[in-house]
Amino acid sequence: MREKVSIVGAGNVGSSCAMWLLGKGFADIVLVDIVEGLPQGRALDLLQCRPILRSDVCIKGSNDYADTAGSSIVVITSGVPRKPGMSREDLLLTNKNIIELVTKEVVKNSPDCIIILVTNPLDAMTQLALYVSKFPRNRVLGQSGILDTMRFKNFISEELHVSIRDISALVLGGHGDTMVPLRRACTVGGIPLTNLLPKETIDRLEQRTIRGGEEIVGLLKTGSAHYAPSAAAVQMAEAILMDKKMILPCAAYLEGEYGISGVALGVPVKLGRNGVEQIMEVELTTEEHEALVRSAESVRKQVKTMKLEEV
Ligand code: LAC
Repeated sequence: MREKVSIVGAGNVGSSCAMWLLGKGFADIVLVDIVEGLPQGRALDLLQCRPILRSDVCIKGSNDYADTAGSSIVVITSGVPRKPGMSREDLLLTNKNIIELVTKEVVKNSPDCIIILVTNPLDAMTQLALYVSKFPRNRVLGQSGILDTMRFKNFISEELHVSIRDISALVLGGHGDTMVPLRRACTVGGIPLTNLLPKETIDRLEQRTIRGGEEIVGLLKTGSAHYAPSAAAVQMAEAILMDKKMILPCAAYLEGEYGISGVALGVPVKLGRNGVEQIMEVELTTEEHEALVRSAESVRKQVKTMKLEEV
C-alpha cells in the first residue's frame, strides 16, 4: 500500500505541492481546503494528468479533515500570503489563528504524522505547530532554507554561467530579512565560491537571496512565490518518505544546538523516515554566529507576540 501525504490549503502553494508530488508517484495525495469545490476541482484537474505521468497514485480533494486520516506526512500551506510592501512578519497574527486550528485537526486525524510547515512567517508558524501538536521536535519542521538555498544557487549559476548541478550552498537562520547565507560553505564544482567571485559580487547575490521572496511579490502584485516553495516542500517529503537521510536546511526546534534554545530556526538537518533525525552543527565564525543569534532573536520576538502559553 502506498503511503498518504495530505496537503492542507489548495491555493497556489498547496496545489503546486500536489502537482510536484503527483509527478514523483510515491504517495497517495489528499488536498484539503475549507473552500468548497476548490480542492475537489484542483484534485480532479491533477488526476487527469495521470495518463501522461503514467502514474497510478490517487489524489483526492476534500473539505473534510477525516479524509486526511492516517497520513504519513501533512504539509500545511494554509494562510494568507503577503502583498507588495508587506513583510512575512506582517502575517503573524492572521496566520497564527489559521495554523492553530489546522494543526489541531491534523493531529486529531493523523497522530503519528510528520508535519511540514510552509506558511509564513515560517519559523514562528513551525514553532506554533510544534506547541499545538505536542509532537516531539523531530516530527514538526518547516520549509524555508531549501528555498533560500535554491535562490542563492540560481543567482550564483547565472553569475558564473555554470551548471546549477555543480553548486552547493547553505543558507541558515530565519526565513526573513535576518537569514544568514553562508558563503564559506558555498562551493562550485568543489571550488570555494570565495575563490571565484569578488566579495562585492557575493554581497550582491546574498542580498538578492535575502530579498528573493519580496522580488517575486513585487512582480506578481497579488501573491507570492509558489513553484519553488512547493518544490522545496516536496523534496522534504521525499527525503522523509524514502528515508533518504538527506542533509537539507530546514526550520527545526533548537534545544542548545548552535548555543540557541527554545526557538525554531533554519539549520541543516538530516531528513529520514523519522523526520529530523539529526541537527547538523556547522562551525561558525564569531560574525556568522552573531548573525544567527540575531535571527533567532527575531523569531523569538514573533513567538512572544503569539503568546504560545495561551494556545
Ligand atoms: C518566499 C515566500 C513564499 O520566500 O516566503 O517566496
